[in-house]
Amino acid sequence: MAIQANDLKTLKGLLESTTYDITMLANFSAFFYEKLEKINWIGFYINKNEILKLGPFQGKVACIEIPFSKGVCGLCASKKQTILVPNVHKFEGHIACDVASNSELCIPVLLNDTLYAVLDIDSPVFNRFTKEEQAILEDAVLLLTQELKKL
Ligand code: SME
Repeated sequence: MAIQANDLKTLKGLLESTTYDITMLANFSAFFYEKLEKINWIGFYINKNEILKLGPFQGKVACIEIPFSKGVCGLCASKKQTILVPNVHKFEGHIACDVASNSELCIPVLLNDTLYAVLDIDSPVFNRFTKEEQAILEDAVLLLTQELKKL
C-alpha cells in the first residue's frame, strides 16, 4: 500500500515524543523504510559547512560525505529544492551508492531557510516517485522541521 496522508498523523506522534534530533531522523527513516514500497535506501545527509555528512538511514552502507557541488543530494542542498530523478542514469554526476538504484527523490530539510539536512530516497524502480507522493513526503519533512525547531 502506498503512503497515505493519514500516515503523517502517526509520524507526528512518533516525532513529538522525541527530544534528540538524531533519534528523530533515525525513526523517520525507519518509519518510511517500512511504509514505502520498492525503495532500497532512505536516509539523511546532514549539512556541516556545506559538506553533507551521512546521518541516520536504512539500507546498504553509503558514501559518507557529499559536497554541495556533487550528485543529486548536492544539487538539492545547493538549490534548497526537491529534486526528483526518474532515471538516475540520465542525471549527470549521480553518485551511485547502491548500484541497484534507478530513481531517486531528494528533499531539503530547512530550518528557517538554513539547510539542516537533505532526505534522500532511492528506488530500484525507474519513475518510482509520483508528484503526489513527493507532496506527502514534503509534508512529512515539514512536520520533522517543526519538531526539530522545538528542540
Ligand atoms: N545518489 C546520491 C548519493 C547518496 S546515495 O544515493 C545514498 C547522489 O547522487 O547524491
